[in-house]
Amino acid sequence: MSPSPEQTPTPLAPNERVRPYADAPRIPESNVIDPRELLGAKGAPVELEIGPGRGGFVFERLAAEPSLFFLGLEIRRKWATIVDRRLAASEHAGRGRVFAEDARSVLPRFVAGSIARAFVHFPDPWWKKRHHKRMVIGAPLLDELVRLLAPGGELFIQTDVEERAASYEALCNACPGLTPAPGGARIGENPFGARSPREKRAQADGLPIYRLLYRRDG
Ligand SMILES: C[S@@+](CC[C@H](N)C(=O)[O-])C[C@H]1O[C@@H](n2cnc3c(N)ncnc32)[C@H](O)[C@@H]1O
Repeated sequence: MSPSPEQTPTPLAPNERVRPYADAPRIPESNVIDPRELLGAKGAPVELEIGPGRGGFVFERLAAEPSLFFLGLEIRRKWATIVDRRLAASEHAGRGRVFAEDARSVLPRFVAGSIARAFVHFPDPWWKKRHHKRMVIGAPLLDELVRLLAPGGELFIQTDVEERAASYEALCNACPGLTPAPGGARIGENPFGARSPREKRAQADGLPIYRLLYRRDG
């Protein structure tokens, strides 16, 4: 039996079928973006996370440091949308945003010296050569982060893959403008009072975590 007209579901617009989360939050199209203005930080420090995924770190970091503002760039529209909506509905509303963007293409539009600290947690889960073009951490991104970090600003990277940690360390050591934290780039613990979802899982599974901390010269 065919459904009555009242039972017939409204067909999805072509856009909805092909592009779920078409309304994902995006960075404005302007050529120059000041993250401090974008978030309305009014002189407060702005921290950046590349690839926050499900966003646990963003919430915990905002809770740990009530004076700071936080910007996430997440390439997956679904998670950017969900986390940004959760932020807007949370006690941290107005202090944190996550935008659906490829960090590699949007960061060059950001104003120099506008970021107090940058986090990249467990990036690049790509093991096949043909996927290497998706890699986030590389010399171009590090050069961009050096430009964006305020003098004395910090870059924190962590991974559970030893070879990746070694290659990130080599890249950072070769990057002009970055200096290992006092005592050395490799640090044992995460000092930021917040953990990423992947970090929690690695700890629950008893996996080693390799952590790197660098300072922007100046
Ligand atoms: C392995 S997951 C780790 C998620 C989270 N950082 C954590 O530690 O739980 C890597 C994340 O980076 C995001 N990502 C990958 N490439 C990206 C890019 N170019 N710009 C922004 N986010 C990216 C992925 O969508 C994914 O959410």
